[in-house]
Amino acid sequence: MKPCGCSGGQLGGLERLDAVFNTVPSQNRLILDTGALVPESTEQNLIKFNVIVQAFGLLGYDVVNLTGQDITIARQAGLIDGLNRLFNCITSAPENQTSEINFPMKFTKQFSSAEGPGIDVTILTADTAEQLTQLKESVNPSSNAVVFILILANPDLIEAASNLSFIDSMLIPPHSDEPTLISEVNKKPVIIAQGRLGKYVGQINIDIDSSSQPAKPQLSFRSVAVTEDLAQNQSLVELYRDYQRLVKEARLLEKHPKFPLPAHLQYVGSKSCKLCHDYEYQKWLTSPPVVIPGEKTTTQKGRHANAMLSLVDVNSDYDPECVVCHVIGMDYETGFITSAQTPQLEDVGCENCHGPGSEHVRSLGAIQTAGPKSTCTDCHTSEHSADYLANEKQYNDKVIHWRPPKAPQIRRRIIGEPNSPKIVK
Ligand code: HEC
Ligand code: HEC
Ligand code: HEC
Ligand code: HEC
Repeated sequence: MKPCGCSGGQLGGLERLDAVFNTVPSQNRLILDTGALVPESTEQNLIKFNVIVQAFGLLGYDVVNLTGQDITIARQAGLIDGLNRLFNCITSAPENQTSEINFPMKFTKQFSSAEGPGIDVTILTADTAEQLTQLKESVNPSSNAVVFILILANPDLIEAASNLSFIDSMLIPPHSDEPTLISEVNKKPVIIAQGRLGKYVGQINIDIDSSSQPAKPQLSFRSVAVTEDLAQNQSLVELYRDYQRLVKEARLLEKHPKFPLPAHLQYVGSKSCKLCHDYEYQKWLTSPPVVIPGEKTTTQKGRHANAMLSLVDVNSDYDPECVVCHVIGMDYETGFITSAQTPQLEDVGCENCHGPGSEHVRSLGAIQTAGPKSTCTDCHTSEHSADYLANEKQYNDKVIHWRPPKAPQIRRRIIGEPNSPKIVK
């Protein structure tokens, strides 16, 4: 739907697709989605499904291939009857047979041409050998040039489908985020592995060689990256805001499933550590600094210590898919629930990396911190922190918050030494 914005240079976003599609005049293009719109039927995914199909409607998609999962979700979300009003639907899923609506297995769009013959472009979908035979038998002759593009979910059928001479192109399951040409250039059928996550648009160009009789279509393929510099379509920007509002209203944060912690352990929040670890606390609070673009001085605010603010700024502070890495312990009992219920657990805090601190605090440091601890790469994944892996040392240096010699000195300060801070229970 939209890149998270955690690090720069991310590709994708429904709001930028218009800019890619509009490089081809609308009367000359067919816009297709191959389906599998969301991975599973969680409450959040039902909301996503609803928003994605609306987006496809706004973007003028001609045809969407629905997988069995898509049909199940559309039914759960009460949308199955309305889909055909947004775009044409095709499917090869067995779920279709039990559906109140029967979607076909193919869709044809006709393009006329002032100079010569027009082109009929037909999108087909098949999942079994029987369906392939069925499609083959249903092919009608046409006076126009014809192009057949097959969506093939089942990789076992690639060879059988390649032997069907009428198939010009085949779209097979993804190999990577970027759609890629699998077959040799200028060889029929043109086999393309689909992309993932909407980072690219796969573009098949069809040219007609009208000198040959009957007119012969020539297919070529390229992938177009959906980059940050493309113009945003305002309607789709607003649609994403609707999505954020729906997610907030569904109170998904409060329903997020939580694993139990080892016996007696609880999250207590970073402020609880300040009393005995003031040096570390101040370091964490102020570094590495949040850089505000355009301002000469950096504010003395640490990025980990202000991680929730970044989500508030982009209206995603109620979205569990974002909040989980920007707060303490959301996946665990006693961890973050909402900013209102657990304000002390906002932001990336001490207990993300050191584990839940209740026993350590209760024992005045005698019992070491324990329990689930996150490593840097649990959050700094390639998707969310593209620069991390190549700059691991720099990242680590930026979060140094302890002073040598480390722990023993703290113990001396607290246990038995004069002027040690009073511990109030
Ligand atoms: C897997 C963990 C993870 C998830 C999930 C996650 N983030 Fe992040 N986020 C990070 C990390 C790590 C950084 C810091 C990246 C860096 O600087 O290398 C970050 C940084 C950010 C920033 C600050 C960017 C800047 O340069 O100022 C924003 C805004 C943000 N995330 C928004 C989101 C949104 C919105 C979502 C949900 C759609 C999300 N995050 C989901 C880990 C995550
Ligand atoms: C991003 C992860 C992260 C966060 C957040 C974090 N720490 Fe650490 N902390 C570390 C790492 C990594 C070390 C180094 C561990 C080592 O050298 O054994 C460390 C070291 C320490 C040490 C010294 C440990 C020793 O062996 O003497 C203390 C004390 C400490 N942190 C306290 C805190 C406190 C208090 C907070 C919150 C104010 C905090 N840390 C936040 C990751 C983190
Ligand atoms: C009441 C004082 C006190 C509080 C509050 C406290 N600590 Fe400590 N902490 C200590 C003492 C004392 C040591 C040194 C223990 C040693 O030498 O074995 C220590 C050591 C540590 C260490 C290094 C050894 C270890 O357990 O891994 C870390 C990390 C740490 N504290 C993190 C935290 C975090 C996180 C919090 C807040 C949840 C916290 N501390 C709160 C007193 C405290
Ligand atoms: C629980 C998830 C989480 C863990 C674990 C985590 N980080 Fe982060 N980190 C974030 C998020 C989120 C941000 C972005 C905060 C913001 O600006 O909103 C971030 C930002 C940073 C930044 C600021 C990037 C910059 O360019 O200034 C550094 C440096 C960093 N993390 C280093 C580390 C290191 C090193 C570790 C491991 C010791 C670590 N982080 C562990 C979530 C995490």
